[in-house]
Amino acid sequence: METGGIAAARWLPQGTFAGQVAVVTGGGTGLGLEISRGLAALGATVVIASRNAGHHEAFCAEAVEREWRAEAIVLDVREAQRVREAAEGILERHGRVDILVNNAAGNFVCPAERLSTNAWRSVLGIVLDGTFHCSKYFGRAMLAAGSGVMLNVVATYAWTGMPGVVHSASAKAGVLAMTKTLAAEWAGRGVRVNAIAPGPFQTEGAARNLWPDPETERRMLAQIPQGRFIDRDEVAAHCLYLLSPACESVTGECLVVDGGLSLAAGRMWAPGERVQRRPGTKS
Ligand code: HXC
Ligand code: NAP
Repeated sequence: METGGIAAARWLPQGTFAGQVAVVTGGGTGLGLEISRGLAALGATVVIASRNAGHHEAFCAEAVEREWRAEAIVLDVREAQRVREAAEGILERHGRVDILVNNAAGNFVCPAERLSTNAWRSVLGIVLDGTFHCSKYFGRAMLAAGSGVMLNVVATYAWTGMPGVVHSASAKAGVLAMTKTLAAEWAGRGVRVNAIAPGPFQTEGAARNLWPDPETERRMLAQIPQGRFIDRDEVAAHCLYLLSPACESVTGECLVVDGGLSLAAGRMWAPGERVQRRPGTKS
């Protein structure tokens, strides 16, 4: 099986996911799209799921061209009953679900004291409720089969905190706790659950909502010790690695891929800075 130069697939052997069925929420854009392309290139049947059918077109067209096994469903992960029906439908059509990537998210920058209840609910609904609904209903199929693997996409501000994103940070912290809890509940039943915490990487959705102008983008970049956005293909490659048999014993873990950003959060001394002792003091 040819991986066709798909960057995310570059570290794993051809056919790594052959015969498996993978579901990727938000799989039509950004990171989710690269994960979906990588999984398909490595042999999985890939089902992408999100609200906007227009977001599915690029992946579906590429799948036809490259003869990947792929499907797209319109789904709002906030709606528990719709998620349940989607899981049952996929099981009926494909007979199994081996992989779930909870990648769908919503985000924007707003001071906490100005955030409306509906805005809070919207982001919590997509990130925290959506991840739970998918984990529960796709997890049931995995538990029944005695095998499966899940990956939740979080962000390092789940534990560092960050001004302007109280909704997203709170939701991602919940997803992190969910990752460890489900990993502990399901480890003895063949289901692994991990998370990945990338630093800022360029996508149309993130740029539109989080660094919409050059000045904000410049300030964001200045915070990243490596001085550049994280490579989205590299993040997707790490995702595939965590989903692969290379990580058979890894569960409840969160891999940070952030160019040192979370180490620098709240730093007091600049790199290379030399702080002199007070005159007259001895070491
Ligand atoms: C304040 C806002 C707002 C903003 C929306 N709202 N945008 N409030 N500032 N910029 C409010 C609305 O006014 C409304 O509240 C409520 O949020 C819901 O708005 P809807 O338009 O109805 O949104 P909905 O379809 O429910 O949710 C969509 C969304 C949107 C979350 C608001 O941003 C979205 O679709 N995002 C998907 C793409 C995305 O965000 N990608 C970025 C991922 S990056 P009221 O009270 O007026 O009714 C990421 C991590 C980055 O997650 C980490 C970097 C380190
Ligand atoms: P993106 O392209 O904007 O992706 C978000 C996806 O979520 C879209 O495909 C969207 O599709 C889907 N989605 C949103 N609401 C949904 C809902 N209610 N139901 C189903 N699907 C929904 O963003 P990205 O930058 O690639 O982010 C991907 C993941 O990485 C997210 O979990 C994000 O929090 C995380 N992350 C991103 C960054 C970054 O810098 N970009 C950093 C750290 C973590 P529809 O619009 O079609 O529904």
